[in-house]
Amino acid sequence: MPESRCLQGIWSSPWIFIFAASGSAVGLGNIWRFPYLLGENGGGAFLFVYCVCLLLVGLPILMAEVALGRTVRSNPIDTVNDLSERRLIHSAWVFVPWLAGVTGFLILTFYSVIAGWSMAYIERAVSGQFVGISELGAQSMYNSLLSSPREMLLWHTLFMLLVVLVVGQSVTRGLAALVRILLPVLIVVLLMLAGFALYKGNAWEAAQFLFRWSWQDMTLKVVTAAIGQALFSLSVGMGAMFAYGAYMSKRMSIASACSTVALIDLAVSLLAGLIIFPLAFAFHINVQSGPSLTFVSLPIIFGSLPAGREVGGFFFLLLTIAALTSAISMLELFVAWLHEKYYIARMKAAFLLGFFVWLIGIVVLLSFNHWDSKLLFHLNFFEMLDKLTSHILLPLGAMLLSVLVAWFLPRSVLQNEMVAKKSMCFQWWYYTLKYVSIPVLVLVTFAGWIGV
Ligand code: TRP
Repeated sequence: MPESRCLQGIWSSPWIFIFAASGSAVGLGNIWRFPYLLGENGGGAFLFVYCVCLLLVGLPILMAEVALGRTVRSNPIDTVNDLSERRLIHSAWVFVPWLAGVTGFLILTFYSVIAGWSMAYIERAVSGQFVGISELGAQSMYNSLLSSPREMLLWHTLFMLLVVLVVGQSVTRGLAALVRILLPVLIVVLLMLAGFALYKGNAWEAAQFLFRWSWQDMTLKVVTAAIGQALFSLSVGMGAMFAYGAYMSKRMSIASACSTVALIDLAVSLLAGLIIFPLAFAFHINVQSGPSLTFVSLPIIFGSLPAGREVGGFFFLLLTIAALTSAISMLELFVAWLHEKYYIARMKAAFLLGFFVWLIGIVVLLSFNHWDSKLLFHLNFFEMLDKLTSHILLPLGAMLLSVLVAWFLPRSVLQNEMVAKKSMCFQWWYYTLKYVSIPVLVLVTFAGWIGV
């Protein structure tokens, strides 16, 4: 499809793509999910496998998604339809973008609840509740939020409203401009907090935890969690990056733009780790405590900073906006498709889908209190959704998408799409995707099914 036929317009500068894609990648996954998975999976071993997975699985698949998006310049569902009309693939492949859409939808149901925690913490920070807070105080503040479904519902509703309103508008406008300011500010704030945490906290023990590992620690559970997180953090495996590829100009190098996004994403996650672990070790917070880790550790640092109220409030505001720019990309797929295929107004489509996400989100937030019972495999509803999406659906979606790109699309189409001039780079990407990423994902999806 020629560039002029694209519905939403083409981004002229590679930086716009980088900012928009980083807006999707950087979010709660880096600051909330990464640290607690690191804590639960033994630190160094997880970090090492995670970095390897980013390079050998996450990045090649990110490039594949973007390349595919740019080839057809449409939403993922129509992309696959279009390819099958051109007889490049079988029409049964249309199942893949549907699976992707459902995955994004399900992730958003719990993502919105956690983003609601971040909003609740803005209020707590600004009202001075962090000042001089102890480890016990931070723990009970977190528990009191979790035991109040009403408050969580309020923030969850507000967050979903914001998501729907932004997705209801077009994704290209305004978003990259917002991230262009947000991202550097977030990184500077994280750098300052990391400096403070390393100085005030137990940097030595944190470093030992983060960077030391032995081969015995490399269990299948660690590998599965690391791959799931690599996909989650880069927003790949559900077609979110398709949309950004579709807006990308043909002159840009997909390889360098995607590597930059992956680097930014890794840097933010590492910074979050460098803030949370020195604090956790200094204040005897259990690093294996799961989803509470970030929300218990951070108030302590803000509580002891000179302008803790302002800095704390500002930080959680940044985190909420980062979560918003990620959440948008989870809903975009279905909204764009309903709009482009059935001419349903974007706002209407966004409200309709957002309503169902909101409803399921209510069950998620109740699973932290009234409905905390274990349903299946000793997991509550939130844990089930989290495992289902990151251990099964994302790897499955990423695998099918990579098979489609690497085995079904003609090599010449891809070579054209990639970096025609740098053939070494193309070879690396193509063979890694074909012979490393795909087999690894087959194994992980299989391991996910058998419940590792
Ligand atoms: N990457 C985001 C984060 O780290 C979450 C996210 C946005 C995502 N879009 C996605 C995860 C698509 C999986 C698939 O917070």
